[in-house]
Order: sequence, then C-alpha cells, then structure tokens
Amino acid sequence: MLRLIKHRRFKTFLFLGVTTVLIVLLLGIPKSSHTAMTSLRSLAQNREIVIGAAVAINPLRNEPVYREVLAREFSSLTAENVMKFRFLHPERDRYDFTDADTLVTFAEDNNMKVRGHTLVWHLELPQWLTEGNFTRQQLLQILRDHIYTVVGHYRGKVFAWDVVNEGIGDNNQLRDTIWLKVIGPEYIDLAFRWAHEADPKARLFYNNYGGEGLGEKSDAIYNLVRGMVERGVPIHGVGLQMHVGLNNAPPTADVAANIQRFAALGLDVHITEMDVKIQDGTGTQAERFAAQAKIYRDMLGVCLSKRNCKAFVLWGFTDKHSWIPWFTKKPDAALIFDRFYRPKPAYNALREVLMQQR
Ligand code: G3I
Repeated sequence: MLRLIKHRRFKTFLFLGVTTVLIVLLLGIPKSSHTAMTSLRSLAQNREIVIGAAVAINPLRNEPVYREVLAREFSSLTAENVMKFRFLHPERDRYDFTDADTLVTFAEDNNMKVRGHTLVWHLELPQWLTEGNFTRQQLLQILRDHIYTVVGHYRGKVFAWDVVNEGIGDNNQLRDTIWLKVIGPEYIDLAFRWAHEADPKARLFYNNYGGEGLGEKSDAIYNLVRGMVERGVPIHGVGLQMHVGLNNAPPTADVAANIQRFAALGLDVHITEMDVKIQDGTGTQAERFAAQAKIYRDMLGVCLSKRNCKAFVLWGFTDKHSWIPWFTKKPDAALIFDRFYRPKPAYNALREVLMQQR
C-alpha cells in the first residue's frame, strides 16, 4: 500500500513538474522574473552612476507595466513634457503642477531622483507669452517669476535642472529666441542665477543636442559654459542629449574628450536624452538591434570611464512610447525595451557594461 502511495505521489510531482516547464517554455519567462537584484538600477548603484529615463504622464497613469519597469530599472526620472513652460504655466497668472506633481510623487514613492526639464527653451511656450509683445523689463520679470515659482515648488525634490535647453542653435550661435531677442544674451546667466537662488542645492545644467562629440557646435557649447564659469555663474554641469542614429553616433573618443574638457572646467556631465534611431540603418532588424546595442554599450562605457559623468538618461525606455515615430513620421525602435516591455539587445548591453569590473 505504502509503495502504491509513493508511486502515485511521484507521478503527481512528475506531472506538475513537466506541466510547469511546459508553461514557462510556452509563455516565456514571466516579466517579473527580471528581479530588482539584476536590474539596471541596482547595477548602476554599484557603479555610482544615476541611470534614468524620460517619463510621459499618460502611460505613467494608465499602464501598470510602465510603472513597474520604470521603478525597477531606473534610479531617476525626467519629465518628458509636463515641466515645460506651457504645461506648468498655461496662463500668465496661473500655474498648473498637477501632472508634474504626479511624476515627482511617483519618484518619491519609488526612491527615485528627478531631473527637471526644462526652465528656459524656445519651444512649448504658451500663447500668452509668445503673443504678449512684452518689454524687456516685463519679460525679465515673467522669466524670473517662472523660475522662482517652479524651482521653488520643487525645492529639495528635483536634484538637477535643465535650466536652459538648446540655447545654441544649429548655426552654432546663440539661438534667435524670444529670450535672446527681447532680453539679450544675459538671459542665460540670469536664468541660472535665479534657479540657484530658488534652490541652492539643485544641480544646474545647460542642455543641448548635437554637441556630444567634438566639432563646431560642441565648441560653441564649450565656449558658452566656459564663459559662464569665468563669470561665476552657478552652473554645475552640461547635459549631452545623445539623440543619435545607427549612422551618426559620435566617435566615443570624441565624446570622452568632450566630457574631459568639461571636467577641466569643474563641470559634471549628464547624458540626458539618449535614444538610438534604427530607421536609417541597413540589414535585418536583428542586425540593426545589434548595432544599436553596441552604441548604447559604447556610450555608457564612456560615461562610466569619466568621473564627472554622473548620470546616463534615456529619452523614454520602451519603443511603445518613443517620440521618434511621431516626430519623424516613420516607424522606429530607438529604446531598450520593445513595445511589449521585453528587453532588447540594447538592454542586455547596458547590463553587461554595468557588470564589468571597474
Ligand atoms: O499633451 C498635449 C495635448 O494635450 C495637446 O492637445 C497637444 C496639442 O497641443 O499637444 C500635446 O503635447 C504634445 C507633447 O509632446 C505631449 O505628447 C506636444 O504637442 C508635442 O510637441 C510634444 O512633443 C515633445 C517635444 O519634445 C516637444 O516638446 C516630445 O514628446 C518630446 O519627446 C520632445 O523632447 C525633446 C526634449 O524636450 C528636448 N530635447 C529634444 C527632445 C526631442 O525632441
């Protein structure tokens, strides 16, 4: 009798074991098997670097898996849009922090840092501002009030601000914006001084695209921030956006040299908005994903090799919510998780770099 029971129990265990293996093989390893222990966030912590992602308010509110992957894999979030001028300051005498507060609360609940993006830009300006025909004195007051109100609202909650974004244009000169036209070039120094007065502990960054390696635009950015340092403006770092594609990623040696010369100025560097377009690549999707992974690997490797490169931030993290298809009107897959939040070769490449010994 005893033998019969043992035999039946063995058969039951065997059946359950085989069934479980079949389920896992058929359905794939469940997402939750990506444990926090081996996440980018935990690996980055061991390397003393912040790893972040830009966050869109709608998927944050509506997609539990978006929230799960964001909190598990990243130690910092950047407001992709909701901290831009027109979203926070829709009317001259009205601010609306609702969406931005949702992001900041999520970060606090998940022990994440927040990068504020962005206080002064030429885009996403509300109509009351662009059509107000304000005098220089009026615009100075508006900009000062905006910076004091926004930075003050998030005092102690935002560890780094993109104070001025893309102030250098594609002609390698100061961009001809409402700020430059009406106030003059001093708008940049003033914006940093006001942000520092509003939150003396926040790290203040100048952020740009197209100047990640070496070249005329990179030199224009370097010369701008060197002047600010020489004038004693409270600037702490430069944001290199790193919006690149398979065919135009800057040479890593140039990125390293660029980061190094900011170190010589006493400035930190954040990679602030990395994504790697594949639409202009050739070959199979697998070949393009492998090439994409190499670029992510190389750029994180450069950042890790420079003590003043303190943060590595992606512009989103899942291909399902990337700005690129909307902006380019072409399909793309520029980020490290696919549309179904499955890790791509680029994700594994970043993990490999973070696991390498220093
Ligand atoms: O959410 C509003 C919606 O309520 C409104 O009806 C609609 C029409 O006005 O606009 C919607 O906002 C859109 C926003 O994305 C949120 O989806 C804006 O139109 C659209 O212009 C905005 O695009 C963003 C773009 O910056 C311009 O702000 C992209 O998502 C964002 O990824 C992109 O990010 C920029 C960085 O801030 C700076 N560096 C370059 C980077 C890529 O362009």
